[in-house]
Amino acid sequence: MSIRFIEQTKTFKLDSKTSTYMFGIFEGNYLVHYYYGAPIPDEDVTELRFRPNFASFCPDSPTAMVQNFSPDVTPLEYSTFGTGDFRLSAFAVENSDGNKVTDLRYVSHKIYKGKEPIPGMPSLYLNNEDEADTLEIVTEDKATGVRATLIYTVFNDYGAITRRVKVENPTDKPFYIDTIHSACVDFPGKDYEMLDLYGRWVKERALERYPLHRGIQSIKSKRGSSSHNHNPFTAIISKGTTEDYGDCYGFNLVYSSNFSIDVEVDAFASTRLVMGINPDGFKWYLEPGEEFYSPEAVMVYTNQGLGEMSRIFHRLYGNNLIRGQWKKAKRPLLINNWEGTGMDFDHDKLVSFAHHAKDIGLEMLVMDDGWFGKRDDDKSSLGDWKVAEYKLQKGLSGLIKEVNNCGLKFGIWFEPEMISPDSDIYREHPDWCLHTEGRDKSIARTQYVIDYSRKEVREHIYGMMHDILSSNNIDYVKWDFNRNLTEVSCAQLPKERQGEVFHRFVLGTYESMDRLTKDFPHILLENCSGGGGRFDPGMLYYSPQIWTSDNTDPIERLTIQFGTSLCYPTSTMGAHVSASRRAGYETKMNVALWGSFGYELDPDKLTAEEKAEITAQIALYHKYYDVIHYGDLYRLITPFEDAFRVAWEHVSEDKNEALVTVVQMRHPYDEFFMLKLKGLDPEKVYVEQESGKKYSGAYLMNAGLNLTYKPNGDGASFRIHLIAE
Ligand code: GLA
Repeated sequence: MSIRFIEQTKTFKLDSKTSTYMFGIFEGNYLVHYYYGAPIPDEDVTELRFRPNFASFCPDSPTAMVQNFSPDVTPLEYSTFGTGDFRLSAFAVENSDGNKVTDLRYVSHKIYKGKEPIPGMPSLYLNNEDEADTLEIVTEDKATGVRATLIYTVFNDYGAITRRVKVENPTDKPFYIDTIHSACVDFPGKDYEMLDLYGRWVKERALERYPLHRGIQSIKSKRGSSSHNHNPFTAIISKGTTEDYGDCYGFNLVYSSNFSIDVEVDAFASTRLVMGINPDGFKWYLEPGEEFYSPEAVMVYTNQGLGEMSRIFHRLYGNNLIRGQWKKAKRPLLINNWEGTGMDFDHDKLVSFAHHAKDIGLEMLVMDDGWFGKRDDDKSSLGDWKVAEYKLQKGLSGLIKEVNNCGLKFGIWFEPEMISPDSDIYREHPDWCLHTEGRDKSIARTQYVIDYSRKEVREHIYGMMHDILSSNNIDYVKWDFNRNLTEVSCAQLPKERQGEVFHRFVLGTYESMDRLTKDFPHILLENCSGGGGRFDPGMLYYSPQIWTSDNTDPIERLTIQFGTSLCYPTSTMGAHVSASRRAGYETKMNVALWGSFGYELDPDKLTAEEKAEITAQIALYHKYYDVIHYGDLYRLITPFEDAFRVAWEHVSEDKNEALVTVVQMRHPYDEFFMLKLKGLDPEKVYVEQESGKKYSGAYLMNAGLNLTYKPNGDGASFRIHLIAE
């Protein structure tokens, strides 16, 4: 068992492959946090609770009148509001008397093999029960009877722990859940740096790294999606941490709506992180007998730097988050018509697309936005999911038949949660969009958001999608989401439940995605939100890949893909070669190969030479598929540290194959260029496939390759392919 309760010291010990996590039951049944870090043996760690000597302004606890204990300075396992801990609160309930004073104390616990799913929500799953153990701790607020169960799962093969909280109302009075974080971790000291992923449309997930300061630092979303602007990921790292060295605590929330991650360094120089649903705009009314589940938090620890932290996330998500028949299967090589045609296409254009695509070796045509209603631009028809026969003159099945006849699979685009004011569905049901009585409705991209918290509304949309998917031979769906939520309220819900709408909305989305993946298990679902505006583990539970960004310029893509790779595996990043002009096809391919590869251009417009080049690229795509998709990623030179060139490497699990890619973004000052590789077997001899030269793994990792005379120039790139003898 990776989880044990040590009776003598009343300590819980959670041992993962690379970490130990310890907390215990203290006087007065407080749950006190002791330790999270590299593995340590079983020993008494209770003195780790001592933080600074507190001052007279730190309240004593009447039920734990022991020396040096105050809820205000003690590291607490799950902090609550209003009873002496003035730092960040992980949990607060507004009780039936109208105050928010909350105090959770230990009641009981159980430890078992395996892991339960969260009803109606995405969460990590097990392939077999032996992969993980779970600890459930029931806590209670005596004065109100509110119950919260803290649930921890330890993954035996990874340095990963997941956490979530279940709240129950066993009383006879309703209450509001005001704040519910999924994870709360107290760190000793303040000498850490915080790392997060920020961005905007076409510039997603750049890396921000900064020393913690006294006070609170936060990343959040209030957009009704995880958003382009901040990702529900952060790492707390020791100062000076590199790709290869240093303590890294990675946190990621399996949630696709409003999240918040707060980190507070208090005046006594202790640090607390809380991560969960953003309390801003959230308030959940819990009637007697009801229960509520928080989303799942994933925590990864390693003392081997950011690279290893990422690889733990990648392996964990590849095995225990991504599901369905496409989990490990080779994904079809697709061409998407969006950048090639926009909405200006018809039957013949797409059939011609398909013929050209087949000629160059592609496997699937994805018809993007513009095939339904009267959709010629982004001003109409969202919600009218009926084929635009003035464009697809032989209907959808006529088109798919011809595409299939030329040997390609077929994929289709939807934006199910959206509605255009100029649509039949809106004219019929103007109340179906999110709106607040008496206020203007904000509009974005000429569209409103459908109230997915309402069952009958999402049933209707799903029904239309189901009709199309069940009566046609469709292998792929791109599920888009092109604006954020405003005027969030729901006419169907009573006033005490208006604080639930954001969360109910995302539960509605999850329910529809779940239905789609169950009704059509063969369909490859790719998520998208104006590119990567909903790139989070919640979405990855339903769709094994997500369109990483609308920006397909290969040089711009570098920061986006490097940033995304901090937490998310290669196979999850949709990456396409487009007609963007900044670099040649060689570099476009080299960058797009680092992801779920495809094309996004008009093949009719390619010259004969370009077609031949792309055909050659496709052969390389097949050749490198396994090492890229199933191998381990090493970031060798990142664009966040080097303004001139970047390099990354994929190494197969057995260390017999490695593919290194180098891209020169602009001409560097230093012409001399040595590159040390990583993750190889020092004992093995590797053959460089182009030159036939042989190098030991030890040489490649310690001396490095001398790449001074390799192709250079702005936007140039090359690959080094190594196979062990
Ligand atoms: C979003 C997506 C694009 C494309 C368009 C269609 O911006 O990110 O890939 O599907 O919508 O409107």
